[in-house]
Amino acid sequence: VKVGIIFGGKSAEHEVSLQSAKNIVDAIDKDKYEVTLIGIDKQGRWHLNDQTSYLLNAENPKLIQLNKSNDNVAIVPGSGSSQMIHASNGAVLDQLDVVFPIVHGTLGEDGSLQGMLRLANVPFVGPSVLSSSICMDKDIAKRLLQGAGIHVAKGLVYTTANKQDAAYEQAVEELGTPMFIKPANQGSSVGVSKVSTKEEFDKALDVAFDYDHKVVVEEAIIGREIECAVLGNEEPKASLPGEILPQTAFYSYESKYIDEKGAELAIPAELPEETVKQVQAAAIAAFQTLQCEGLARVDFFLTEDGKIYVNEVNTLPGFTKISMYPKLWEISGVPYSELISELLDLAIA
Ligand code: DAL
Ligand code: MG
Repeated sequence: VKVGIIFGGKSAEHEVSLQSAKNIVDAIDKDKYEVTLIGIDKQGRWHLNDQTSYLLNAENPKLIQLNKSNDNVAIVPGSGSSQMIHASNGAVLDQLDVVFPIVHGTLGEDGSLQGMLRLANVPFVGPSVLSSSICMDKDIAKRLLQGAGIHVAKGLVYTTANKQDAAYEQAVEELGTPMFIKPANQGSSVGVSKVSTKEEFDKALDVAFDYDHKVVVEEAIIGREIECAVLGNEEPKASLPGEILPQTAFYSYESKYIDEKGAELAIPAELPEETVKQVQAAAIAAFQTLQCEGLARVDFFLTEDGKIYVNEVNTLPGFTKISMYPKLWEISGVPYSELISELLDLAIA
């Protein structure tokens, strides 16, 4: 079976994607799958061969750095047989049986890449164009979840058109403090701030608007951070839940990927059996409400009084060394390489 792995991308999660791709390539069953690597640099150019292997050699986690500008290319032009291709290069995509697009965030996880693969007639791992788009937009996803009776954090939404209306006093009245301010379409907590004062509020809005034309301001749910991995198409199954134990103000980009003491993971989470079942049911409900296919990681807050809030649904969750999705399946009885096979089977099904 010929598998294309597309990774990198123009989003702020470029470096995270390199780590995810590296782990997938390491784990994939080489007897069963013939892998073609397709790397997208920060300019959005597509590469095959040498340059992609350079990308995958980005082994040092310190290479991961918060970088929203596009002028820092993570690929050093190689020599030899490296080749730049056009994104819509049918000749390359035509030779593949299935694609694993492990590009997080904008253009990779938001339906854009999925649309291109659909037009190219290649099956791909993960949710459809529509599902990818709605899950990527925290505002839209929350409205749909809420409509299905799933608890989500209260929030306010601003766009570049009405951002001057964003007032700290009103936000405090409706949401209390602290609040979270997030770009509507981002991953890995890029551009996210936790704020309590007017000064912080104004600054955080500016930061969030640097990343997106739409920003959500949310109440902070006080509770444990629980994550659950979902796998499947029509009959999805949920993994055992895991827990994030942030050692900083919140589970930020730095605490995820840079600061080694930034966060601890409890895998599985220590929860009563009944709660595990409730979390799994909520994960599947969220997955189905947002019409996910293949995979998604559903992130929750669990409050002291036992309420389960969905924070977000990630349709191409991280596969880095510290990432929850593959780890949760490992302890739920699906080893890494089997997980990759299952995801590819689900894509082709
Ligand atoms: N957005 C990152 C990759 C995650 O959800 O794991
Ligand atoms: Mg996310």
